[in-house]
Amino acid sequence: LIHLLSVEGLPKSILTHILDTATNFVSVNDREVKKVPLLRGKSVFNLFFENSTRTRTTFEIAATRLSADVINLDIARSSASKGESLLDTIANLSAMAADMFVVRHSESGAPYLIAQHVAPHVHVINAGDGRHAHPTQGLLDMFTIRHFKKDFSNLTVAIVGDVLHSRVARSDIHALTTLGCAEVRVVGPKTLVPSDMAQMGVRVCHTLEEGIKDADVIIMLRLQNERMSGALLPSSHEFFKSYGLTPEKLQLAKSDAIVMHPGPINRGVEIDSAVVDGKQSVVLPQVTFGIAVRMAVMSIVAGNEA
Ligand code: CP
Repeated sequence: LIHLLSVEGLPKSILTHILDTATNFVSVNDREVKKVPLLRGKSVFNLFFENSTRTRTTFEIAATRLSADVINLDIARSSASKGESLLDTIANLSAMAADMFVVRHSESGAPYLIAQHVAPHVHVINAGDGRHAHPTQGLLDMFTIRHFKKDFSNLTVAIVGDVLHSRVARSDIHALTTLGCAEVRVVGPKTLVPSDMAQMGVRVCHTLEEGIKDADVIIMLRLQNERMSGALLPSSHEFFKSYGLTPEKLQLAKSDAIVMHPGPINRGVEIDSAVVDGKQSVVLPQVTFGIAVRMAVMSIVAGNEA
């Protein structure tokens, strides 16, 4: 694995290798991981052309714990704001001896373009491109599910909400089907579920009640207002009435179901605060596991393993 651009197309053996490697970076209390020298002398450039709290910070923590030098380019204050092209930006940062680019961009495919233009020893990791893919989120979601549920082969996983605009949903679906998840459901209004879902091997449900019934795992998605035109955008109130996950509706799922959300959360729009903060929520463990999973991904691509 030279780059990590998508989960799509990666075989089960590589996904499992990444998850197993991440296990080595999670300590007994799931929190403190000692610094290791795997990326010593390497320069990791974080290029976030779109905003981020979790992904950017956990990539920075992960790279630091791998002993890399981490450079966070402040895109708003960079010369990209003066019109410098993406590839010119990359060429100039490459001239500063970059070894790895972690890229988030609003345009689907931007990390692929970068990967085509960097030198062979430089690695590119997709930290979310448009509505296309968010592979490390998909992997940390798989790590979280495996941590709490052990085995994918008996699981029903429901992915609920704005599937149409969600790069997380796509990465989760590819990862879940590759890892042998028994049933993957996508749940949302017709306007927010893409037409190719059935071809991806998932069951489409248009009511929350049907979608989460007897589910083991519920992954809630944010309404991505910034990617919607007016006609598509449901009112928050109407959306919550039909698709918002409340403590009452959660009772339709298995009693030991876990609730996930990639964040950022719109409380009271796709999910009730009582569920976010409730005992079935694993939203914050997802964030913590993101560090170990990103350490695993960076160490594997840097070592050209797998
Ligand atoms: N889950 C996720 O990608 O969150 P951020 O946008 O804060 O990175």
